[in-house]
Amino acid sequence: METKDSGIILSIKDVSKSFPGVKALDNVSIEVARGIVHGIVGENGAGKSTLMKILSGVYTKDTGTIVFDGETIEHTTPIESLNRGLSIIYQEFNLVNTMSVGENIFLGRFSEMHGMRGTHAEARKLLDSIGCTIDTRTLVGDLSAAEKQMVEITKALSFQSKLIIMDEPSSSLTSDELKQLFGIIGDLRARGVSIIYISHKLDEIFELCDIVTVMRDGHVIDTKPVGELTRADMITKMVGRSIEHEYPERPRCVGETLLEVRSINTHKLHDVSFELKKGEILGLVGLVGAGRTEIVRAICGADKVKGHQVLINGKPVKIKKPADAKRHGIGLVPEDRKLQGLVLRFSVQSNIVMASLDNLTKFGFVDASKEKGIAERQISNLGVKTPSAQTTVVSLSGGNQQKCVVGRWLEINPQILIMDEPTRGIDVGAKYEIYMLMKQVVENGGSIIMISSELPEVLNMSNRVLTICEGRITGEFNPETVSAQTIMDSAIG
Ligand SMILES: Nc1ncnc2c1ncn2[C@@H]1O[C@H](COP(=O)(O)OP(=O)(O)OP(=O)(O)O)[C@@H](O)[C@H]1O
Ligand SMILES: [Mg+2]
Repeated sequence: METKDSGIILSIKDVSKSFPGVKALDNVSIEVARGIVHGIVGENGAGKSTLMKILSGVYTKDTGTIVFDGETIEHTTPIESLNRGLSIIYQEFNLVNTMSVGENIFLGRFSEMHGMRGTHAEARKLLDSIGCTIDTRTLVGDLSAAEKQMVEITKALSFQSKLIIMDEPSSSLTSDELKQLFGIIGDLRARGVSIIYISHKLDEIFELCDIVTVMRDGHVIDTKPVGELTRADMITKMVGRSIEHEYPERPRCVGETLLEVRSINTHKLHDVSFELKKGEILGLVGLVGAGRTEIVRAICGADKVKGHQVLINGKPVKIKKPADAKRHGIGLVPEDRKLQGLVLRFSVQSNIVMASLDNLTKFGFVDASKEKGIAERQISNLGVKTPSAQTTVVSLSGGNQQKCVVGRWLEINPQILIMDEPTRGIDVGAKYEIYMLMKQVVENGGSIIMISSELPEVLNMSNRVLTICEGRITGEFNPETVSAQTIMDSAIG
């Protein structure tokens, strides 16, 4: 039995949870020790986030027992679990952009802090304790993703958290920021705080975690010290079969020049010019914030940019808005699926067919059976885990939402497909599926521009790599002959 002083901070026993049409958790049992980093891995839709939301009181479990710090938790709310010492940091941060850092950390507790002065002073102390130098009066809206995360961590510390859950915390961090995060996690562990760390990036799990639990389809498959597993073991447990290669063979379909971009200049970009060949996969590498997304948004007419030229097959084209881009056969899988990609209230089907609507409408009516066909094709193509095509997208797991955005563009078979972080939040097995689809696109005569922060993915999938640093193209490389280090050096400038 766990008591307040036992070595176990959290004990989850036989917890189950169903949603309409899905058993998200099926008799899940996990024990988390004090002062360790406990990794959780599993395919998209395995139930990781659901379990964490039950712990933090966002969802209620159907059955099972949860004991936190010696206390059996029956029903809880997010604020109760915070006060108990359990906090969760979501990938989509829970901060108020229009308020300052200090105010966010002590939101709703200003009087306890004896007003604003006390609030900022206390916030300063806590930020210092994790080696973070952000001014407490800065507006959260002006912070980078990494800084916001530091604020979230500080907020967790302000509640004297004994367990901090991080659900895919690293996806928008640069490698330096990641190092900093790992440093902070190490310090927390040394202070006896436990961390649950969820990630699809297995390298991080190996580097950071003491213990890892693998989940699949709502079940716990295994819990083991990280040292006792190889990467291949972990993947096999995650996807239920062994995966020999993480990447397909690199496609080689490069032909004539298809797209030419000349002189994009904005406040962030400086004289960006490049070419894309027919059948080519072109990788754009750079740090978060280097201007990669701005480049593709300028090409697609998503941002107002003047003075540059875009040529397709040698002919100048005018792209003033995304609809123009689409008309010229350019599709964009955006970086932020929630902001630019998906309509969360709509069904999986509506989201997938969204880009195909022009082809589906006859005299203003949508052809419902065609629509259904498209949705089902992409759901099976990409292995989207959903009870049905009619399910609302908001209830899908993060990775499965991403697959819907990718499926939408694959369906219209664009001549030029631009993918901005296409595999963010996607599990290993599904990543392979996306790589295969990319391969299919170029083999069918399309071309791809891929932006990715995951260097191995760029090195294995592209035919050519451009590095971007502070809004400029700083290098062009053949990924088959160049070292990862050379590319990183060029991307850092
Ligand atoms: N609010 C909800 N309503 C209906 N179904 C839900 C809801 N939340 C989660 N689900 C379903 O529960 C299952 C588990 O989802 P969960 O988000 O826990 O997966 P995950 O392991 O976090 O996946 P990912 O790696 O993609 O984030 C999925 O099938 C998902 O569709
Ligand atoms: Mg999740």
